[in-house]
Amino acid sequence: MVAWRRTAFSEMVADQASGLRRLARAKPVRVIAVSSGKGGVGKTNVSANLSIALANRGSKVMLLDADLGLANVDVLLGLQAGLNLSHVMDGECSLEDVIVPGPANVQIIPAASGVKRMAHLTPGEHAGLVNAFGELGVDLDVLVIDTAAGIHDSVLRFNQAAQEVIVVVCDEPASVTDAYALIKVLHREHGVGRFHILANMARSFQEGRDLYGKLAKVSDRFLDVTLDFLGVIPFDEYVRKAVQKQSAVVDAYPRSRAALAFRKLAQSTEKWPVPDRARGHLEFFVERLIQASYGEAEAQP
Ligand SMILES: Nc1ncnc2c1ncn2[C@@H]1O[C@H](COP(=O)(O)OP(=O)(O)OP(=O)(O)O)[C@@H](O)[C@H]1O
Ligand SMILES: [Mg+2]
Repeated sequence: MVAWRRTAFSEMVADQASGLRRLARAKPVRVIAVSSGKGGVGKTNVSANLSIALANRGSKVMLLDADLGLANVDVLLGLQAGLNLSHVMDGECSLEDVIVPGPANVQIIPAASGVKRMAHLTPGEHAGLVNAFGELGVDLDVLVIDTAAGIHDSVLRFNQAAQEVIVVVCDEPASVTDAYALIKVLHREHGVGRFHILANMARSFQEGRDLYGKLAKVSDRFLDVTLDFLGVIPFDEYVRKAVQKQSAVVDAYPRSRAALAFRKLAQSTEKWPVPDRARGHLEFFVERLIQASYGEAEAQP
């Protein structure tokens, strides 16, 4: 297969024409970033279970593993991922080659080190990557992004480029302060103004609601952002059991309390406003991602 990196200029022009035709056909894709600030609060479990629950409800879902440290999603779901976005950028394979089919036909893209290189793409590479994602976006409803812990550049970029940001919190002081730090920097430095707060590993509904209350109180006081309460995923031993079996709890234990909550979460996200048609195409998400990376590279001394 001809890798996009070697695409000649004339082919790029033709690609752009076909890209425009494709855009006319394609439907907008909802892009949801799952973040937390603090590590280990359940982002990967939320991303994988939300993706599978949405797919089980009939959506076409792609899950981008944007945690550059460890390949979380494929380990969690017991999948073999040999290639990642970085190989696509090296021209070693096409984007289709990188996709790992997951449960319920969720398409998984391991990003690994590829994301760091987005700040240094040539114009040809840039156009090629945007087009490659555009091709995939033709038949897609939702893109879920499992981001890394912390507030590193790549985490901020993915959140900035997504349309919806889910912030996962749990009942630990560091989780709330790190979630606030993430919201603050995304708002002040990256212009993100709306966040969905999801309480994970909660011992009761009230505990989850209180966590949201704490975050909302401090955010209301110091930031001009909108925080909404997305709900609660209970602490459930079946999540751990599913992780040990290398599967998602919605698949392994569909009657567990956590699985029920993940299905409810999927339903809630479906009620969010339909993404803007003009800006909702996958091409524009990748474009925003690359632009955010350029901005960052320029800002560095
Ligand atoms: N609702 C839950 N009930 C019980 N255990 C949970 C729940 N959610 C997550 N866990 C456990 O917490 C651990 C961390 O979850 P996960 O890997 O999804 O977190 P993460 O935020 O992605 O971590 P990292 O920051 O390292 O990427 C897992 O071992 C998982 O079993
Ligand atoms: Mg993770």
